[in-house]
Amino acid sequence: MLDRIDKIREEILAFAFPGSGDAESFRLRYLSKKGIIAELFEEFRSLPPGQKREVGQKLNQLKQSALEKLDEFQSAAANKDAEREKPDLTRPGVQLPLGARHPVSIVRREILEIFSRVGFVISEGPEIEDDWHVFSALNFPQDHPARDMQDTFFIRMNPDILLRTHTSSVQVRVMEKQLPPIRTVSPGRVFRNEAISARAHCIFHQVEGLYIDEGVSFADMRQVLLYFAREMFGPVTQIRLRPSFFPFTEPSAEMDISCSICGGSGCNVCKYTGWLEIMGCGMVDPNVLENCRIDPVKHTGYAFGMGVERIAMLKYQINDLRLYFENDKRFLDQFRSAW
Ligand code: DAH
Repeated sequence: MLDRIDKIREEILAFAFPGSGDAESFRLRYLSKKGIIAELFEEFRSLPPGQKREVGQKLNQLKQSALEKLDEFQSAAANKDAEREKPDLTRPGVQLPLGARHPVSIVRREILEIFSRVGFVISEGPEIEDDWHVFSALNFPQDHPARDMQDTFFIRMNPDILLRTHTSSVQVRVMEKQLPPIRTVSPGRVFRNEAISARAHCIFHQVEGLYIDEGVSFADMRQVLLYFAREMFGPVTQIRLRPSFFPFTEPSAEMDISCSICGGSGCNVCKYTGWLEIMGCGMVDPNVLENCRIDPVKHTGYAFGMGVERIAMLKYQINDLRLYFENDKRFLDQFRSAW
């Protein structure tokens, strides 16, 4: 029996991983309940007492060797698994598809940036407004057509609450809160009850501008708007101011820029006029100043408002307003490098 134990011990010590099998087959062969070592212990029980001491010692040594070997195999296998799961940091990265900024965001930011360079700070107001801030404080008469259900989204339960139709409402909020000098631009979403087409949408974006101080003139306004037009559309851009009407400005004007496509010689974008209309503007009506508790004898100011989608259309020659809202990737991808 001693010889057999020695032989098995040699066999165990020679067992190599993984060439001779895996840890589990080793365990089954030598260390399981019906394995070789268990059988030897069984045999050991019927030995004459004189042999038990020596054989017992050898058997215990054999079992110890087998356990150590198994342990060695198991930890080698675990290391191998860990090795396999370790990330390979030298592999080239997978490029994730990056989104592009929306043209409305690009142009809104550009407008705000241009005005902030000449001292305008950004202010914002709520999209759900009341009649006072959207119409009454801005000198709209009670029977003005813009108050009609046709143009404005009212809340049915309370017709004093409505979705703002322009960001001019933010002018009022700023003037109510702050004393002149005031120099602010107010970006935001506006809502009008319009049928959706290539040229009209029920949701769009505007940027409102307001400058109130002592002695502000129409000429000051013209110079700032010329600066804006040239920063936005290029240094050779010309502007022209046409008389117009808004309830909240007096005098009021509409500003055109020389056509950025044909340079003024006439094309189908400017309908062969050489000019493109880009915003409304004017001197803030004294009634509006009074409504906001600003003294119109001491203070004057100008205001202007433009549509962001319209500026983006001219800048990028986009011919359908609906494109802005469809989120078609083929459209959006074209603005990848614009910012
Ligand atoms: N609120 C006008 C609109 O939505 C735009 C506008 C015109 C704003 C003249 C002004 C302004 O501040 O002075 O069409």
